[in-house]
Amino acid sequence: CGIVGYVGAKAATPVLVEGLHRLEYRGYDSAGVAVVRRGRIAVTKAAGRVQELRDRLAESAPNAATIGIAHTRWATHGEPSDRNAHPHLDADGRIAVVHNGIIENAEQLRARLAAEGVALVSETDTEALAHLIAAEIETGSLEDAVRSALRHVEGTYGLVVLDRTRPDELVVARNGSPIVLGIGDGEMFVASDVAALVHHTQRVVFLDDGELATVRAGDYRTSTLEARRTSKQPTTVDLAADDYELGGHPDFMRKEMAEQPEAVARALRGRLDERFATAHLGGLGLDPMALRAVRRVKFLGCGSAYYAGQMGATLVEELARIPADAEPASEFRYRNPVVDPDALYVAISQSGETLDTLAAVQELRRKGGRVIGAVNVVGSAIARECGSGVFLHAGPEVSVASTKALTNMTVSFAMLGLLLGRVRDLSAASGQRIVSGLRALPAQIEEILTEDARVQQVAKRHAHARHMFFLGRVRGWPVAREGAQKLKEISYVHAEAYQSAELKHGPLALIDADMPSVVVVPHDELLAKNIGTMEQIRARGGPVIAVTNAEIPEGLADEVIRVPRGEPELDPILLTIPLQLLAYHIAAELGRDIDKPRNLAKSVTVE
Ligand code: G6P
Repeated sequence: CGIVGYVGAKAATPVLVEGLHRLEYRGYDSAGVAVVRRGRIAVTKAAGRVQELRDRLAESAPNAATIGIAHTRWATHGEPSDRNAHPHLDADGRIAVVHNGIIENAEQLRARLAAEGVALVSETDTEALAHLIAAEIETGSLEDAVRSALRHVEGTYGLVVLDRTRPDELVVARNGSPIVLGIGDGEMFVASDVAALVHHTQRVVFLDDGELATVRAGDYRTSTLEARRTSKQPTTVDLAADDYELGGHPDFMRKEMAEQPEAVARALRGRLDERFATAHLGGLGLDPMALRAVRRVKFLGCGSAYYAGQMGATLVEELARIPADAEPASEFRYRNPVVDPDALYVAISQSGETLDTLAAVQELRRKGGRVIGAVNVVGSAIARECGSGVFLHAGPEVSVASTKALTNMTVSFAMLGLLLGRVRDLSAASGQRIVSGLRALPAQIEEILTEDARVQQVAKRHAHARHMFFLGRVRGWPVAREGAQKLKEISYVHAEAYQSAELKHGPLALIDADMPSVVVVPHDELLAKNIGTMEQIRARGGPVIAVTNAEIPEGLADEVIRVPRGEPELDPILLTIPLQLLAYHIAAELGRDIDKPRNLAKSVTVE
């Protein structure tokens, strides 16, 4: 979900709506704004996209309100509707609240309020907050009222509060869901994500969990939930407004796929060492002794980050010969894991805000596990909680489906594998081979991207399949999983990934002329086996789309998508790229909203 707030001299509504538009990738079930106008709070909401809200606002006369709050929602409590859209008000219409996160004791709070005679109009947990704050407001400042109300609240929040009797200040609070202040010239902005701010200012203040702030046009004051003042210096974010512009591309996914050569080059910059045939990852904070002491590596992440972790596990095992595996962070946090003091845990997240991943990190730290981050957003919750790690340097990623961030995750894990390998058994010559292989990646990715028209043809021919298989083994297996995920996410075509050799143990029964199989075929020792898989599918009349950097027999596959050959360990990185293009073109062919697939959000800061 996305939050925006404004207080200054300009008309607030256009600033708020423009900010929401930039945050729409965080959630798009419904949107709303509240401004203070002539001593009253005026609220406008609309179910659906920010455009619907814009249309609704256009129906009423523009107003000159100079303070307001706004929200774009990804439904958790209550269906997406005008009624459940934020902002939410208290019964008197004095207090308006926008909120990200989940109030865990919402049911109790709502029941208590109802027992006190408060009429709740929505099904949301947020509305309870508005009533709670209103109940505390008589006693003092808005900040004190928010602080007192939050004492009753369990759960996570990033919130902004507006009081119609104080049209010159906003109060914000953070616990588990990001809030950042943007400092302008005689105006202040508030948002859940810097994406909404960089058009106005690059001077920002990130709130910490357990922190509140009162924000006025000319200043801000931060303090803790216990009312202790904190002093926060603004930082300058190194992001330009055009990082969030399409720049001539039809959508962000396309733009971000095209940026991959440059993004990979950035991830590698200054980190490869030809002389010692290794990588430098200074942010890990591990000296050679500590690196040698690592007995096991475990990657944790959600969605595509988890699949990147699986590719990372293969890379680390191959290059460093240390047992490595990956697990969804969401599972790990709930199954009372045995935390191994000799293991290195790697928490993977593009946004750095995914609640399940953050919770896994916190659980690990509580139990004395050594955890590093592999995070794209500097200053994000997971990056801060880990304290050390490797930044992905992919640049801002807006499209919900991850492309360049995922690629940079795998590139980073190749460097991690190289580094761990070079303090163990990996020879200098092999290390050198990997260094050169990594250096070659940007140009190779560029080459794959030039195959776009060819992939588009393949996509057109298969876009109307209702189901697809994605098959791979060993190095190709996580690639197949990520390929299936991408297709599901943006095209809504059902896709299932399977280990090629397992096909004959069950799913082969599903193969027929209407079930295309995308087979990931690296040029490695398993080539003959993969050829066997394709033969099995062909024998049952199933269409085969081979994604490969190997020579495969003529006529074996209906479609062949070729990838340049590099160092075999790095194949997963390159083989993933055409699967992005395939999913993209199938989704385009089906007329899907590629950047904002239904029911999904870019970063899930709730359970
Ligand atoms: C959401 C997105 C996925 C993403 C996952 C992890 O579910 O829809 O595309 O892979 O979160 O996000 P993260 O920011 O932690 O990498």
